[in-house]
Amino acid sequence: MPQTDFDFDHLPERRGTGSIKWDRFPDATPYWVADMDFASPPCILDALHKRVDHGVFGYANAHEGLNEAVIDYLADTHGCEATSREIIHLSGMVPALSLACRAFCQPGDEVMISSPVYYPFFKVAADAEAETVDVPHIRDDETWRFDWEAMEKAVTPHTRMVILCNPQNPLGRVFTEAEITRLAEYCESHDLILVADEIHCDLILDPEQSHYSALRLPENFHKRLITLMAPSKTYNIAGLGYAFAVIKDPNLRNQFVNARGCTLPEINLLAMVAGEAAYRYGEPWRRDLVEYLRGNRDVLADFIRTQMPELTIHEHSATYLYWIDCTALEMENPFQFFLKEANIFLTDGGPFGNDQFVRFNFGCPRDHMLKGLEAMKGALERRPALAQQT
Ligand SMILES: Cc1ncc(COP(=O)(O)O)c(C=O)c1O
Repeated sequence: MPQTDFDFDHLPERRGTGSIKWDRFPDATPYWVADMDFASPPCILDALHKRVDHGVFGYANAHEGLNEAVIDYLADTHGCEATSREIIHLSGMVPALSLACRAFCQPGDEVMISSPVYYPFFKVAADAEAETVDVPHIRDDETWRFDWEAMEKAVTPHTRMVILCNPQNPLGRVFTEAEITRLAEYCESHDLILVADEIHCDLILDPEQSHYSALRLPENFHKRLITLMAPSKTYNIAGLGYAFAVIKDPNLRNQFVNARGCTLPEINLLAMVAGEAAYRYGEPWRRDLVEYLRGNRDVLADFIRTQMPELTIHEHSATYLYWIDCTALEMENPFQFFLKEANIFLTDGGPFGNDQFVRFNFGCPRDHMLKGLEAMKGALERRPALAQQT
């Protein structure tokens, strides 16, 4: 086990706490929705306690401290410059994706995505009465890539936008500078807006890889670029609801902001307090977290390769979500199989674009992760007997 200053081996009791992950399907052990079974870092808890002790919770602005923390974070962690005017604070990432669609699409327009992908990507276009056009990622022996040829064929005069997920959920891929640049060029050549969802950008597990934020693209691409980030996945504060957009181009920014109308709530002030603390003081915890998750990822990958060889996995470089190919099992629905026979609740690959996959959330203590893997293995070992019974 890696030696860290923080305790990632303790499984907090989450049942009965209003947790979607633990309370929605209380009869099965959950390894699904993308939050982690770790308490948030002490620096966030301290900041929240302090703010709660103040005792007054009226409407809140994004205070200067939050702007400064975000600007410093962008510069120090991702090598990107931004001013406070260019930052738009929001109550979540999915609302931001929906807002982008409503700001730039008319009914009948098209929004391009590449599956498998986080399932709301399939849905946000509908908020603007636009269509979703899916150009699936393709897989070679090594990894998953954009299908540039298919993208050229799929684009039409109605296509308005591409939504990018980088690092990719569920593929665990970190796209390279070359790939992001090529995507920006593709958008330029077809007059499309590029919306980059980078919510997982601080969860890169391999030290030799790094996040290339779309914000680092040359200036000429910024007139069509919306970059979205959040501390929620990294610091496990998704339940507080906070994300931010960086939009350099003033026209694009105005259009985005104006599309809000009355549809988005004020941002929860505790979310902003937590966000500031995360970006200002969370880095030592984040580093230890990433090391712990890398250990989990390696143990999980080894377990699957050696003990469940009928499942296939690919290289995985980011996020605590592993995409597992169950095609060789020749089952109608592997997710249902593991739910019924292993009593574990994984993420069903179907809504992400491929129901022959499941996604395993390994953002949890290692022992707990291993219990889930053992349960899967047991269910697979009992399969021949199960087949005979039916
Ligand atoms: C790629 C991606 N975008 C957005 C979200 C959700 O963000 P939010 O909870 O801020 O709406 C997730 C959650 O798993 C995600 O994986």
